[in-house]
Amino acid sequence: MSIPRYTDLDTVHDHVWDALETAAEDPGHPYRQLTFGTVHEETPDLRTVVLRTADAGARALQFHSDRRSRKVAALRENDRIAWHAWDTESLEQIRLYGTATVHVDDDVAAALWESQSPGSLSVYPRPTAPGTPIDEPDDKLDPAVKSDPITDDDVAGGRQYFVAIRTVIDRVEWLHLHPDGHYRARFEYASDEGEATWVVP
Ligand SMILES: Cc1cc2nc3c(=O)[nH]c(=O)nc-3n(C[C@H](O)[C@H](O)[C@H](O)COP(=O)(O)O)c2cc1C
Repeated sequence: MSIPRYTDLDTVHDHVWDALETAAEDPGHPYRQLTFGTVHEETPDLRTVVLRTADAGARALQFHSDRRSRKVAALRENDRIAWHAWDTESLEQIRLYGTATVHVDDDVAAALWESQSPGSLSVYPRPTAPGTPIDEPDDKLDPAVKSDPITDDDVAGGRQYFVAIRTVIDRVEWLHLHPDGHYRARFEYASDEGEATWVVP
């Protein structure tokens, strides 16, 4: 399969956001599982999360998490975030930068909770907080979520620990390791019209 070569900045920009919107709907997409970066006590931290919604118009990406987790503590201290993905087939790297808001009991959290299948919420009914030291390897999940089918009732107790994390992107860095050469572009949204430029890779 030949790899398309992009020579127009608007096309690159649309392509990146189309891919993110597709990934939020398609569990098999390379951008479905993204690396999410935060800063905690002046130290960078990374972890993989599942992209749950992407909205090109609002430049927003969302995932869900446990409100007791370290990343939530980090975001309460510093709302600057970064996302990263490397697509080994299309040979593109994306890096996105922005800010995050943590949604506990508002409409954003309710909408994300309600849109998810019980299976994807099965990690939340966990009485012991993530990151707690334990004597033996154990997932500490509620037994009800360990046998199929997982129902809404099985996961309802996890709502108290669920958060939606909504990020709004203010800069996109795109790098393409195309067989013809390496190409890089940057998009910034600080001004209303935004700024787009090719960059030396
Ligand atoms: C493939 C994959 C998908 C994951 N998806 C999520 C997710 O959507 N939300 C989440 O909070 N953690 C997810 N995790 C777990 C995180 O990577 C991380 O281990 C956990 O959230 C604790 O991170 P923290 O200590 O930085 O808060 C996922 C891990 C993997 C490997």
